[in-house]
Parts: sequence; structure tokens; C-alpha cells
Amino acid sequence: MFIRPLKVGDITLENNLMLSPLAGITDIVFRVIAKRYGCGLVFSEMINSNGVLHGGVKVLRRMDISDEEHPICIQIAGDDPKVMADVAKKSEDLGAKILNINMGCPAKKITKTKAGCALMTDPLLVSKIIQSVKKEISIPLTIKIRLGWNETQKNYLEIAKIAEDEGCAFVILHARTRVQAFKGHAQWEEIRLLKEKLKIPVIGNGDIVCAQTARNMFEQTGCDGIMIGRGALGRPWIFKEILDPTYTPTLQERKQVLLDHLEGSVLRHGPYGTVLMRKHFAWYSHGLPYSSRFRQGLYQLKEPQKICDFIHAFFDDLSEKGQTL
Ligand SMILES: Cc1cc2nc3c(=O)[nH]c(=O)nc-3n(C[C@H](O)[C@H](O)[C@H](O)COP(=O)(O)O)c2cc1C
Repeated sequence: MFIRPLKVGDITLENNLMLSPLAGITDIVFRVIAKRYGCGLVFSEMINSNGVLHGGVKVLRRMDISDEEHPICIQIAGDDPKVMADVAKKSEDLGAKILNINMGCPAKKITKTKAGCALMTDPLLVSKIIQSVKKEISIPLTIKIRLGWNETQKNYLEIAKIAEDEGCAFVILHARTRVQAFKGHAQWEEIRLLKEKLKIPVIGNGDIVCAQTARNMFEQTGCDGIMIGRGALGRPWIFKEILDPTYTPTLQERKQVLLDHLEGSVLRHGPYGTVLMRKHFAWYSHGLPYSSRFRQGLYQLKEPQKICDFIHAFFDDLSEKGQTL
């Protein structure tokens, strides 16, 4: 009942389940895996528009898109309307099907300018940026916001209304303030309030960790779609679990996803791909028996083939011991 196709401009998303942009995590490899598990829309990591302007190779590589992940949304951050419009145009030229502006990042290195969540403190600048970006692109424009800077400055309704009036296609609300960062609980009642006030779709974000919390978010807020971040770490199949309540991945499937992720990461990032995978190893093994032994063993290894052999041996051993999950 809650899961349905979502129209975004001329695009119809297969479903209204989205993978959060997660800097340093949701690279092309992770996004493709999430897509295979039924995610309706994936987002790039945040692209710092000033970094693109200065031709930073790392930033530009983050804008790579695979055919498998369409439709994809590229997320940009910044505080200069002209620069952001240029980077938005570049994103469209590179193949983005939807564009998103980050107005929620709490990190000091972003908010010390007016970017990320600091943008929300300047509604006039928000209007200028949206207008300037909209003029340059023909793909749908969306924004991702928080509740506001702190509990006494919750101005998400004002910012979201500006986005609606300026023609944005949807608004994602991570229901925490900047001061809250990632602590405490997401205040889902504010998502409900936003849903009551806006005509354009509202995407609820914050603290969805399983199929049940996904359903709760839809039921309690009436939102049009949901976005999942940390709940997908080490569990990219969460989208399939939400789409099909009878589904749980087998041990063998979990092993295969991990191996695919590792292979993709090494292909994409070279030897550094194994280093990048370390945090994923921890997430993928969360809740598995002997998980600390698994992590300790893997952290000793650098050679991709040896890592693969270790993963095979660990999971096969679990299967032999009759672990099913
Ligand atoms: C490690 C990490 C990186 C993140 N990077 C981004 C980002 O690049 N852009 C963005 O809009 N939000 C970013 N976020 C916020 C998430 O997209 C999401 O809004 C937040 O984690 C709340 O959702 P969740 O409870 O499902 O994780 C990041 C969060 C984390 C934990």
C-alpha cells in the first residue's frame, strides 16, 4: 500500500524507496548493489561544487555514473548560486537524471561557509540558489534538508515551501536539527507536519533500520517515499526486505554480496579498494557469529585474493556449523 511508483518530473521511479547519499560510502559500487536489491533511487555522495570548479580529480570521479544505476540523482553542495548552477549543468551533462541540493550537512568544514545545513539559516540565498540552478538544468531539482539549525530555529517548513514555490520536484527531510547531528531520535512528527503543508512529495529520512521501521515511517508520517542511510550499511538487501516481507538473505547470499562488493571496490579503486572495504567488512559481519574473529582476520590481509579466500572459508565454516540466520 505504501510502496508505489513515484513520479518525479518526467521520470517515474519504480518505487519510492531511496538510498541516502553517504559521503565516503555510497560510491558507484555500493549504489549498483542497492539497485540490484530493488532500491528505487540512488544518490551520489555529496559533490562539493567548489571542488568541481577547481577540477579536483577525486571530486570529479565521484560524479561517475554506471548505466546500471539509472535513474540516479547527483547531490551537490555549495553556497554560490553561479558555481552551483554550473556544477548542476555538468551533473546533467554527465548523465544525472535528477539533481539534489544538500541543505543538511552538519559538518563544520561544510557549514563554515554557507553550505550544507548553514544554507537553511539564509532563506533568501536558498531561493537564489534554487532559481539559479533551475535555470541551468532541465532535469528535476530536489532538496535535502534538516529541521533547521537547532531546536529554537526549526525553519524546515519555510525552506521546503520556498522549494515548492520555486518548482522543486520533492523535498527530503532528515528529521534532526544541525545541532543534533546524528544523535537522539529523528523527530518523525515533523515529517508528518511537512507532509500536511506541502503539495509536492515529501521523503522521510532518519532512523529507518528495517522493514518494520520503514512501514512505521510511512504509517506515522504519511510521507510519499522513504530514504535509508545507515540502515543499508552492510545490509544493502534492506530494500528487498521492505519490498518482499517473506525475503531474508541466506548466508551464502550474504557471502556473495560481500565478495561482489569487494571485487567492485578493487576494480574501481585499485589496491586502495581493500582499505575502503574495511568499514564495510565490519558492517556486513554485524550480528554474525564470530564477527570479531572475522574482522580481526580480515584486517591482517591486504591481497584481494587472500581476502576472498578468507571470506569463503569463514562463511563456509559457518554453513558447516549449521548457522542459517
Ligand atoms: C557517514 C555519513 C555520511 C553522510 N553523507 C551525506 C552526504 O554526503 N549527503 C547528505 O545529504 N547526507 C549525508 N549523510 C546523512 C544521511 O544521508 C542521512 O540523512 C542520515 O544518516 C539520516 O538517515 P539514516 O538514519 O537512515 O542514516 C551522511 C550520513 C552519514 C552517517
